[in-house]
Amino acid sequence: MNIIDLIEKKKRGQSLTKEEIAFFAYGAAKREIPDYQLSALLMAIRLMGMDREETVQLTLAMAHSGEMADLSAIHGIPTDKHSTGGVGDTTTLVLVPLVAACGVPVAKMSGRGLGHTGGTLDKLESIRGFQTDISTQRFIAQVQSIGCAVVGQSEDLAPADKVLYALRDVTATVDSVPLIAGSIMSKKLASGARAIVLDVKTGAGALMHSVEESIHLAQTMVRIGEDAGRRMIALVTDMGEPLGSHVGNALEVKEAIDVLAGRVQGPLLDISLELGSRMLLLGGACRVVKEGKAMLRDKLESGEGLRRLAQMIQAQGGDPLVCEDVGRLPQAKVVQDVPAPFSGYVHHMDTTGLGSTAQGMGAGRRKKTDSIDHEVGFVLHKRIGDEVKAGEAIATVYARDYESSESAIRQIQRDVVITPEKAPPSKLLHAVVSAEKIERF
Ligand code: URA
Ligand code: CA
Repeated sequence: MNIIDLIEKKKRGQSLTKEEIAFFAYGAAKREIPDYQLSALLMAIRLMGMDREETVQLTLAMAHSGEMADLSAIHGIPTDKHSTGGVGDTTTLVLVPLVAACGVPVAKMSGRGLGHTGGTLDKLESIRGFQTDISTQRFIAQVQSIGCAVVGQSEDLAPADKVLYALRDVTATVDSVPLIAGSIMSKKLASGARAIVLDVKTGAGALMHSVEESIHLAQTMVRIGEDAGRRMIALVTDMGEPLGSHVGNALEVKEAIDVLAGRVQGPLLDISLELGSRMLLLGGACRVVKEGKAMLRDKLESGEGLRRLAQMIQAQGGDPLVCEDVGRLPQAKVVQDVPAPFSGYVHHMDTTGLGSTAQGMGAGRRKKTDSIDHEVGFVLHKRIGDEVKAGEAIATVYARDYESSESAIRQIQRDVVITPEKAPPSKLLHAVVSAEKIERF
């Protein structure tokens, strides 16, 4: 088989066969096909698309290009949740312990921050001692004993995706539904969960800006998972503004603990309940969403969810006392309020800009080898639709020094857009996509 023939075929908009797609994915994983030819084929796929069968074959080939985790030793239906990437999006830390407390095992392999979006592993590592680099054996044993674990992806998980994603990032080929779906679902299939709830973000801070594109991506991923024998549901949720009010690693851990302790309500809790109840549904613990939400609320109110998080932190070498005293999380040196430049209403936010501001403060990486400042970031005090008075604090920044703090203040004043006219608050849940149907809200 010759890679040039595959590029030629896709350039003309023809479908590739299962064998051709396997040749491409394994050739990428084994580094046998040069980057320039892989890049040319990626661009042809970006421009000409892939049909349903091609997308499934690409996903399966990428998944099988490395180790396929076997979680069959886990009692029950190992369940996972995956977000396509957001800002202030800490649902994992809220729902993993609650779902586990309801009896559904959560075996979660997470990623690091990507671009302007945060990553669960980076957040968890702001807890002193917390380890994410854990063998599959220990991972399974932990899920068996306490019901949940959140670990890093093993080096050998979907190696074809590692190679292709790095090329897409530098060849303007990230924004392709078959390539995104293949990338995400290859890693999910290889990590072994039997039931997967997807949180597909939509809006200014998301990969996909329109609801319809996001529904299309959600449906593509649900079909791939179902075809591969997994139970799937996808929610399309809003990323027009950060989900929680806290943006930054230790700050987001604090917010998740505040939610689990019952001190904080709002969109982060609401979306965590939406996602968590679907995990209970797929995991066989309830029959309807409403019942699942009530079960989760019960575990929140009894404190069982927070205790479960403390157990997970302890099992992974971290300081479980952060759950009782968030003051044990790393603290920033410089804390300053962000005054509203004028009076009016919060009309919209440049959510990607806000994510980049946090990244620029040191909460994320610009290059893979950058280290992270876990304590930096900011807390927003306003949501879209809220009234603000000139000079009132719209946010508080937590910075490593004054220079970085002043620069973040200016950026937040630009990214949170205030206008004289009132805007409606944003809708949180836009659609639920299953194998059978699409429900729009
Ligand atoms: N996240 C991924 O893992 N892959 C993509 O292609 C996009 C987001
Ligand atoms: Ca530090």
